[in-house]
Amino acid sequence: MITPARSALRRGFDRIERGLDSVFGWDWNPLAHLGALGWFLFWIVAVTGAYLFIFFDTGVTAAYASVAWLSTDHWWHAGIARSLHRYASDLMVLVMFTHLTREWAMDRYRGRRWFSWVTGVPVIWFVYLSGITGYWLVWDTLAQYVALTTSELLDALGIFAEPIARNFLSPQTLSSRFFTLMVFLHIAIPLLLLLLMWVHIQRITEARTQPPLGLAAITLGALTVGAFLMPAPLGDAADLNVVPARVGIDWLILPLYPVIESVPAGAMWAGVVIFTVVLAGTPWLPPRREGSAAAVFLDHCNGCARCVDDCPYAAITLVPRSDGAPFSHEVKVNAARCVACGICMGACPSSTPFRRSGDLTTGIDLPDRSLAALRAEVIVAAARLGGRGRVLTLACAHCAAADPAPGRVILPCVAMAPPSLVDFIISRDLADGVAVAGCAERECLNRLGGRWTRLRFARSRDPYLRARVPRDRVLAVWTGPSESARLEARLADFARYLAVLPPYALRRSLAEDEAAEADGVHRRSAAQ
Ligand code: HEM
Ligand code: SF4
Ligand code: SF4
Repeated sequence: MITPARSALRRGFDRIERGLDSVFGWDWNPLAHLGALGWFLFWIVAVTGAYLFIFFDTGVTAAYASVAWLSTDHWWHAGIARSLHRYASDLMVLVMFTHLTREWAMDRYRGRRWFSWVTGVPVIWFVYLSGITGYWLVWDTLAQYVALTTSELLDALGIFAEPIARNFLSPQTLSSRFFTLMVFLHIAIPLLLLLLMWVHIQRITEARTQPPLGLAAITLGALTVGAFLMPAPLGDAADLNVVPARVGIDWLILPLYPVIESVPAGAMWAGVVIFTVVLAGTPWLPPRREGSAAAVFLDHCNGCARCVDDCPYAAITLVPRSDGAPFSHEVKVNAARCVACGICMGACPSSTPFRRSGDLTTGIDLPDRSLAALRAEVIVAAARLGGRGRVLTLACAHCAAADPAPGRVILPCVAMAPPSLVDFIISRDLADGVAVAGCAERECLNRLGGRWTRLRFARSRDPYLRARVPRDRVLAVWTGPSESARLEARLADFARYLAVLPPYALRRSLAEDEAAEADGVHRRSAAQ
């Protein structure tokens, strides 16, 4: 039930994102940067909020008067800031729920990746609370409605000595001190939100908290145009002698208010608690089965820290050497964070499939899918290829090439394959060419696997794909789950191209290969 729903949603996202790719390009695609956009919007709200605070007066009548003044007399700077403040908050809610849905659809929240999801749940409430306390401050008719409805809901808890709703009985019962408290809350809650957003990304490496400059400019530009064309409305001044009507409600920040009005407070609180608990428990409904965590083999580890840099989940740390080997450091895997993606194995300089003598052990390996097992799988898959134009595909299990096919080896992530494996396949004539098929550029399941692979192949991130590997015999193809046809067409074209190439001539003997590999590892170790 859940799996078909997830797969349908993921394909839906993939289709929409492909459409957006053609407008923005994949690197500026807004759906690929939702988390970063959330951060960017937070900063717009924070900066415009600080600016508004210069003009805002705290007090029952002064508050409304100051907001009215800045929205009319000073509309061209403070009024625009107010509209930006409101629209960026609205967009933040939209971005947050789209981000949540996309992470669910992409299955990036379960198993050992539960942390970001669970810490995201309080983020939702803090975003809402920040917005609600903001609406309250304006002290127009909408604010009065929000204030009264919220107070009645809070009073139903029975935890306050004096019912809060009493403050709003008449103009005489509302004091400016109450307003000072609201201002304090409207500053303190967003600060706590910032803290939660920081906690939210603590278990991932290189979390993207800044959208690409172009996307940031487009977002800010669109919000500014919106602020000019449609300034944030301001209702009449609140009047506690009159029962407030629900007018001009903001359906993004205040969607629960009509519900609060129509269901008993007890049911409302029960709904909030159930929603929160179920949402926080989603990573275990059902949990994901994951392989054993990566294991370190100190005899093959020189403490170079490449695996530390490449692990997308901050699961590896550098610690002082414990085995007396002449290196300052070794690495340690935190099994509770490791999702067994194998990216560290692909990063390790010891992961060289060329070794002939002894066991093929590397510095960091997956117990359930070792480098030795991967090499054996590649050799078996290659043996099944025949004729001219043989393509061995190293495919990620989450892209369009996830289904088994002749000559295809499916991996948890393409970055699990060390670049030397590509060299091995071509130089050993196991195939005429190697296709590396991973998730679409904007949506790597393992966050950084596609990026690291592209950089390794471009020789700008260790371990490099050796210069001697003929580039026309390597195809990298990045596809989403709904792009099977494009993938198959690219693979077929590649096979046709390879079929007419003259046989690849090895430039070095196998013994030379091993000597060069060993020398490379030795030099890198010595550089530590
Ligand atoms: C406005 C609020 C939020 C902001 C600013 C935000 C920000 C971020 C950022 C920057 C990332 C890292 C993206 C990357 O570099 O791969 C991220 C990942 C994630 N977020 Fe959020 N987030 C927000 C709300 C939420 C909510 C409400 C949930 C779910 C309840 C959630 C669930 C996740 C998950 C599951 C990941 C992926 C973690 C992983 O890859 O293992 N986020 N978020
Ligand atoms: S397999 Fe390696 S890279 Fe992947 S999560 Fe585990 S330690 Fe990190
Ligand atoms: S990449 Fe390999 S050699 Fe380098 S620290 Fe990690 S396990 Fe050790």
